Amino acid sequence: MKTLVRIVAVLIVIGLAALAAIIFVPVQRTGPTEKLAADWQAPAGLGKYDARMADCAACHTEPGGKPFAGGRTIASPMGDIYTPNITPDKETGIGTWSLADFRAALVDGVDDEDHHLYPAMPYENYRHMSETDIRAMYDYFMHDVEPVKNQVAETELPFPFNQRWGIRLWNWVTLGNPGFKPASTKVANDEQLSRGAYLVQVLGHCGSCHTPRNLTMAQAGTNETDAKFLTGGEIGGWSAPDLRGPKSAPQQWSADELKMYLTAGRNAHSAVAGEMKLAVEESLQYMSDEDANAMVAYLRAIGTNGPAPAEAPMKRDETPAGTVARIDAADDPTTTKLKKAVDLTDGERLYVDNCGACHFADGRGAPEVFPSLKGNAAVVAKETGGLIHTILYGAEMPSTSKRPMKLRMPGFAQRLSDDDVAKLATFLRGAWGNGAGPVTADQVAKERKTPTEASH
Ligand code: HEC
Ligand code: HEC
Ligand code: HEC
Repeated sequence: MKTLVRIVAVLIVIGLAALAAIIFVPVQRTGPTEKLAADWQAPAGLGKYDARMADCAACHTEPGGKPFAGGRTIASPMGDIYTPNITPDKETGIGTWSLADFRAALVDGVDDEDHHLYPAMPYENYRHMSETDIRAMYDYFMHDVEPVKNQVAETELPFPFNQRWGIRLWNWVTLGNPGFKPASTKVANDEQLSRGAYLVQVLGHCGSCHTPRNLTMAQAGTNETDAKFLTGGEIGGWSAPDLRGPKSAPQQWSADELKMYLTAGRNAHSAVAGEMKLAVEESLQYMSDEDANAMVAYLRAIGTNGPAPAEAPMKRDETPAGTVARIDAADDPTTTKLKKAVDLTDGERLYVDNCGACHFADGRGAPEVFPSLKGNAAVVAKETGGLIHTILYGAEMPSTSKRPMKLRMPGFAQRLSDDDVAKLATFLRGAWGNGAGPVTADQVAKERKTPTEASH
């Protein structure tokens, strides 16, 4: 018995020592992966372009607030996190930060005093940024961004999440080496694919939403050699769809249509909503043509069943929207039944009365105006928050330089009961071969009470 007590005591001492080491040993910042000359000058405009591609504004700007002045609330399972002011204001922003401090925030996930940042700041992805991009962005933030005095509320998560040293353990388990290297030889040997990989994995941090999370809440895959990379994630009750499977958009749409979706926010099949609207509005619409082509090429190349075929399986419909010819040509049971309008179920009736005028009996809408609901990722998504949200509160396409007009779908929260919305959504998920499961009135009630924040 005595030995046991002694062993336990020794273990406790070792445990406490390890804990003390985790808490008190100073944070080690990584060193630059590439040496830049002290007088290196970023090409004009590069810092601003990189900040846009990395979409710093999406999180660091409050709705209606000054750019980068912080204060946006990021809901996390642990509680609300407020984004800091990253304008060069010396008191409330990052005006006193050195290049090394700025780099450490992006690469090591620590602030200027080496406190760990919550991974809500996507340093898991930014860690692999090139030194030239970091430097260019630093110069942009210090010299071109307007300093704004804005004292942001302190984030106060409940215990134990307020113990920031715990993040250190997470970092040890999660983070790889800084710097970027294409993971597969196929990508490494192709300049365009390499650029696409860098844009998707690092600057665009697409995986932070589109990759599922593992047990430690880290992204379950960071590049094309990981099976789960970009196979679909969840953000605030919405599904961020799979981007690699045989039925995914990059595998089904033509290269041009994928490019339109990413840069204009709409295409022949779909339109952006929720967090993806923000990504297009603040970031992707500003992509250079060369970068957009690289991103599209990379996304099409990394399908789990191999690269997308040159000829898109889901072709753009050339027949004018809603014409008798098109509806007549549709041979699926849903369209036939809606057209006949005999013995309609409640869900079908609600669709005809409220939605058919824009999305049509064949559910295929009109290219770039009304998204197709047949095979639409938001309709068939595992997480039904996005679909319910859209029916209750509507959605608006962003204004982009390619497509400036903001087209809006009205909300139906006033007109339809929870039960109506559930019946309608259940109909949509089963219509036109969509084949997804039902929605309950309880799920609608929940969305009505606490709307998933996206899109308004
Ligand atoms: C997905 C949301 C998100 C994006 C995108 C994002 N950040 Fe952050 N960032 C955060 C959050 C949240 C924090 C605060 C984390 C905390 O409180 O520990 C933060 C913290 C920071 C900090 C530390 C500031 C301080 O005062 O401690 C800096 C610097 C920073 N971000 C810069 C950037 C830059 C530059 C970009 C673009 C390259 C960027 N962030 C993109 C969410 C984001
Ligand atoms: C902040 C989270 C977030 C980020 C970052 C993000 N997405 Fe999305 N994405 C979403 C959500 C949510 C949807 C679903 C939108 C909807 O329901 O209308 C979506 C939809 C899409 C779609 C349409 C898929 C389909 O089947 O209809 C594509 C393609 C896409 N994203 C590509 C990207 C790429 C490429 C990046 C990185 C450059 C990216 N996304 C970054 C959240 C995100
Ligand atoms: C006045 C025309 C109009 C009506 C009526 C209408 N919609 Fe829409 N709908 C739109 C437009 C425009 C969009 C594109 C908005 C966006 O995604 O930004 C859209 C988008 C959608 C989306 C896709 C959202 C996404 O994230 O991809 C769904 C689902 C949808 N509508 C369902 C419905 C349902 C169900 C009804 C009937 C209750 C309906 N719509 C009625 C115009 C309409």
